[in-house]
Parts: sequence; structure tokens; C-alpha cells
Amino acid sequence: MRRIKSRTILLVVTFGLLVLYICKDLSDHKTNFLQINVGEEDSQARQATTKTSYVYSWPRCQQNVSAANVTGFSSLPGNIQNFLYFQHCRHFPMLLDLPDKCGGADQSAEVFLLLVIKSAPENYDRREVLRKTWAKGRLQNGVWIQRIFISGTASSGFEKERQNKLLELEQREYNDILQWDFQDSFYNLTLKQILFLEWMERNCPNARFLLNGDDDVFANTDNMVEFLQGLKDNDGSKHLFTGHLIQYVGPIRSSGSKYFVPVQVQESEAYPPYCGGGGFLLSGYTAMVIYNMSHSIPFLPIDDVYMGMCLAKAGLGPVHHIGVRTAGMHIPSNKLDYYDPCFYREILLVHRFLPANMYLMWQRLHDPYLKCKHKQIPL
Ligand SMILES: *[C@@H]1O[C@H](CO)[C@@H](O)[C@H](O)[C@H]1NC(C)=O
Ligand SMILES: *[C@@H]1O[C@H](CO)[C@@H](O)[C@H](O)[C@H]1NC(C)=O
Ligand SMILES: *[C@@H]1O[C@H](CO)[C@@H](O)[C@H](O)[C@H]1NC(C)=O
Ligand SMILES: *[C@@H]1O[C@H](CO)[C@@H](O)[C@H](O)[C@H]1NC(C)=O
Repeated sequence: MRRIKSRTILLVVTFGLLVLYICKDLSDHKTNFLQINVGEEDSQARQATTKTSYVYSWPRCQQNVSAANVTGFSSLPGNIQNFLYFQHCRHFPMLLDLPDKCGGADQSAEVFLLLVIKSAPENYDRREVLRKTWAKGRLQNGVWIQRIFISGTASSGFEKERQNKLLELEQREYNDILQWDFQDSFYNLTLKQILFLEWMERNCPNARFLLNGDDDVFANTDNMVEFLQGLKDNDGSKHLFTGHLIQYVGPIRSSGSKYFVPVQVQESEAYPPYCGGGGFLLSGYTAMVIYNMSHSIPFLPIDDVYMGMCLAKAGLGPVHHIGVRTAGMHIPSNKLDYYDPCFYREILLVHRFLPANMYLMWQRLHDPYLKCKHKQIPL
């Protein structure tokens, strides 16, 4: 009787151990699988996992199938349908990280101007020229400028693989890219913006000021430093949000427009005041306020308007800066050269410049022999 009992116990225990072993094996496989899927090619990111608490392997965010229930869904353009399916997704795995870009969260007040430049993976030539012109990381007038490109991925397939590889190589050489595993498309720019702010809160919360902009603008970062250093009683710890102010406008309802926003996405006919997304300046404080507000505002596919919504919710607003020309320069006569550097000496930012013009303008503005007799910036 006793022998049988102890034999049964032995059997049960053995069986239990076997089950435990199999389960553990399965779960190991599962985590391996996730790692393969996610930060695979980037050993740097995986190393960083141990340093910070960021979850690199967010489970893939599921499509909201009920989004298709909204009235008129089937008649909406494909990219708007996609936006609605994935509007709730706010976390994506990181492919390339820069945990030490600001010297760590505690040291980040040393960064005076952080250049945060939206760049799709294929824009290699734009990034290259920016690195050697206005976006050079440097000590400028006694304060630090740092540069970060923020990127998603190509949609899928070989193209995605190749471009991920390209960014990985650039990262090895320049260490200036944040990349997440989502499709880098126009209607995903708000997502990109908020993912950046999430990164900033974790890794660079005390940066004084930010330039947030596109990779095809000409930014006179020397002038920006001068402007920001000249601010009375704001060292980045108070509100600042300035650029090309846009107000009294609302959603564009014609489906052919790049900026189309149907009622299914936003019902209200009014947008709050905002600054054109080509480039705007903000304080580190305001960046963190915007991030905090974003938690309770559903994504809108137009990223610059979304910034305005976050500001409005915080009871803050943007202000106009005459030196920010996201709508381009107005040169009053076609007898004048649009690219005459004298017109650009005092501006902060102009949209848009091709890489060759970017390089030329930066060099010419820094030419000590540049002569601008009687030439004014056209306002
Ligand atoms: C919405 O879609 C879901 C998933 O397709 C479906 O189960 C549900 O019944 C739909 N709800 C309404 C109100 O039509
Ligand atoms: C999915 O879409 C439906 C219909 O628009 C919406 O009511 C629901 O809140 C959405 N679910 C999530 C998780 O966003
Ligand atoms: C945004 O990215 C997600 C993840 O890659 C993708 O599923 C979705 O289609 C994208 N949305 C748009 C509007 O491109
Ligand atoms: C943002 O929210 C966090 C957490 O609630 C808070 O600690 C922080 O002070 C807020 N930052 C700003 C600038 O409002």
C-alpha cells in the first residue's frame, strides 16, 4: 500500500516536471520569435534594452476591425481606411535607438537645441547634406546643438529590408537615427511625432529647445541659437512654440487633397491655431506638455494640427515668427535670384530646398566675404 502510494507520487512529480519543462521550452521559443521579428538587425538596440526600461518588443498592434463599421467607410480612400484601422496604435518596436544622445536623461539640460528631423528611410541624400550643413552637431555660440532623424520603415518586402539596412549603416557611422517599426507614411506622421516625444521623456527630458521639422527645409540654426539665447526669462523651462502660424482654418473635406480629413476622422469644422509642420521651434517644457496632453487626444492624421490640439488642451498657444517661411520665400521680382544668400541671412527657416541648393546656401552664408550691400530680406 505504502509502496504504491510513493510510486504514484514519484510518477506525478516526474510528469509535472516534464510538463513544466515543455512549457518553459515553448515560452523560450516565443520570446526568441519576438526578438527575431523585432529588433533583429540592431544589436545596439538590444544592448540598450538592458540600460533602459523601454520595451523593444511591443506585441504587434492589432487592426481595429470595428473601424469598418463607421458610416461610409467603404467609400473612404485606402490611406484613410488604414488610418482608422490603426488609429489606436501608439507603441511600435524600436529598430534603432540613441539612449545616450543627450548624455542621459540627467545630463540632457546640456543640450541647448535638439534638431528633430522627420526623415523617411529613402531620403538618404537629404540626411547626408543636412549632416554637413545646418544640422551639424556642434558647439554654437557656447551651447550644444544635437541632431536626430526620426524614421519609420518602408511598407514591406525587399524594399523594407534594404532601407532598414541602409539606416543601420548610417547609424553605425553617424549615430543620429531613431527608427520604429511602423510604415513611414504621411498619415502616420502624428504617430512618429508622439513616439519621438515618448523617447524624449525617457532619454532627453531636459533639452532646452527643439527644432521640429522636415528634412527638406533650409534652417539657419546659427540664427535660431541667437534667437533662443535672446529670449527673456526662458531657458527652456517655460512655454515656447513658434513658427509659421496658421489659424481660422479647418479640415479639408475634398478627398483628392493630400490633407483630406473626412468627418469620420474629425467632425468639427475648426482646427485650433497651429504652426506649419515644415519646421517650428519649441521649448523642452512645451514638448513635455504636448506629450502629456497627447495621452488623452485621439490621433489626427495631420501632425502639425495635432500639435495645435495638444497645445489648446493645455491652455497654451503657438505664436507667429516672421523668420519662419514654411510657405517659401516671396521674392518680389523675377529679376532677383531666389537663391541669393543675402535674402537668407536673417531668416530662421525656409521650405523647401534640394540638397545641392542646401549645401550651396550654407557655404555661401558662411563665406566671410559675402557682400550684401542694399539688400533686404523681403518680408
Ligand atoms: C462592428 O464590427 C464588429 C467586428 O466586425 C462586429 O462584430 C459588430 O457586430 C459590428 N457592430 C455594429 C454595431 O455593427
Ligand atoms: C474601434 O473602432 C470603433 C468604431 O470607430 C470604435 O468605437 C472603437 O473605440 C475602436 N476601438 C479601439 C480600440 O480604438
Ligand atoms: C501606419 O503604420 C502601421 C504600422 O506599420 C500600418 O499598419 C498602417 O497602415 C499605417 N497607416 C497609414 C495611414 O499609413
Ligand atoms: C507630464 O506628466 C508627468 C507625469 O504625470 C509629470 O510628472 C510632468 O510634470 C508633466 N510635465 C509637464 C511639463 O506638464
